[in-house]
Amino acid sequence: MLISTLVKFFYLLGAVAFVWGLRLLSSPDSARRGNILAGIGMGIAILGALIEPIANANNNYLWIIVGLIVGGVIGWLAAKKIQMTAMPQMVSVFNGLGGACATVLAAAELTKFYDSEAIMTTGELGIAVFTLLIGAISFTGSMLAYGKLDGKIQDKNVILPRHGVINLILLIIVAVLFVWLTIQGQQAGMTLAGVFLLLALIYGVSFVAPIGGADMPVVISLLNSFTGIGAAAAGLIYGNQIMLVGGILVGAAGTILTVLMCDAMNRSLLNVIIGGFGSAATGGGTDSGDQVAKVATVNDVAIQMFYANSVMFVPGYGLAVAQAQKTVKELDDLLEANGVDVKYAIHPVAGRMPGHMNVLLAEADVPYPKLLDLEDANAALKDTDTVIIVGANDVVNPAALDDPSSPIYGMPVLEVWNAKNIIVLKRSMSAGYAGIQNPLFFHDKNRMLFGDAKDSIQKLVQEVKNM
Ligand code: TAP
Repeated sequence: MLISTLVKFFYLLGAVAFVWGLRLLSSPDSARRGNILAGIGMGIAILGALIEPIANANNNYLWIIVGLIVGGVIGWLAAKKIQMTAMPQMVSVFNGLGGACATVLAAAELTKFYDSEAIMTTGELGIAVFTLLIGAISFTGSMLAYGKLDGKIQDKNVILPRHGVINLILLIIVAVLFVWLTIQGQQAGMTLAGVFLLLALIYGVSFVAPIGGADMPVVISLLNSFTGIGAAAAGLIYGNQIMLVGGILVGAAGTILTVLMCDAMNRSLLNVIIGGFGSAATGGGTDSGDQVAKVATVNDVAIQMFYANSVMFVPGYGLAVAQAQKTVKELDDLLEANGVDVKYAIHPVAGRMPGHMNVLLAEADVPYPKLLDLEDANAALKDTDTVIIVGANDVVNPAALDDPSSPIYGMPVLEVWNAKNIIVLKRSMSAGYAGIQNPLFFHDKNRMLFGDAKDSIQKLVQEVKNM
């Protein structure tokens, strides 16, 4: 009795920490604390789960402790070693393992059921079969997503002819089997359940295969919501409140994030799932015709920044690739010391994962009040002397507003052309994620400073220091 009350208390504390941690994650200012609090909540929940079998003489503490140590060490080392730019891969692997856990739990319960060691109502059986399905899709889908993001697997090697039709057929077979297994009970048999599991694993791979490599963050977020739903369903099987609450929070957060990312890119989820965008150039072309972009020298740019009243940095994916965040901060400090007002314009989908720019700039200790979101930045740009675009491309493309034939038409962008001067730092005239040309590069106010972003900023730092 005492133990069961204690377990419930621990679960309640864990759930409160999850919800409060999630709330703190909504602002960059408090996100670090939110993450720590949610981690502590998970620790409390694990403690609750650990004391639960105390009264049970037949407990498996040895296995549990060994599992905790092995998993804890692997997780710690992976988190320590991983580069910021490889974060989506890590999230993908962790998410896939969460899906695998849900599947293993469901498989264990279903095995007992088919071996007549346990009884299940139709509702319970339906939940167990659903957990098996969703966890398996999330597992293999996330593993393929990891392979693609890490460059180990090329899109072209996993896309089959008429892939959409194959996926639809697979989905129908899986759905029919799901209903059959649920209503037939033990009569359906373990072999059919095994076939169902195999098909679910195949469907996970097939579902992610046609999605363009650069669309992976949206898909990872979607798979994350699948894992959350799988964990919540597993919580229902075991009547475990903390799994249920945690799963619902992850499922809801993943779903909201997926919708927000699609909105920010002005694309429907179906369009992302069908694929094609981002894996190849899609209209718009990279041909600049007769237009020629004006080129700036490091000295020009340094003088322009040094004598400006206000400078706005617009970081993009290239900042992450170049790892230029700390050098940008160094330049920011030098300019501020000279009385220049320095701000940063943060587009919600700049980079390759939600909050990518916020994370990088936080790593460089850029104070949060200097970061302006899309709306505030657009309002401030009108009064900005010089905009320095550091490895951003699509998020500053005016075609999103004035070219209905553009694949990004309708996506809200940073209206940098309203500032007095624009400088773009990138290595070449290459397209960004959407694979399309950017008319901004040929704008009257714009000049290009070619080179690796970190290299260019380092040179600017040197020039400004010499002034
Ligand atoms: P992009 O449009 O992808 O452009 C990045 C630019 O950075 C490239 O044109 C590249 O040009 C330049 N670059 C790469 N490495 C560089 C380096 N070392 N030094 C300097 N420049 C470098 O980036 P963005 O403007 O941040 O837009 C993000 C895109 O990703 C959007 O289309 C968005 O929809 C998509 N997306 C974002 C997310 C999230 S959640 N953030 C998720 C899915 C998709 P060069 O090769 O010429 O240098």
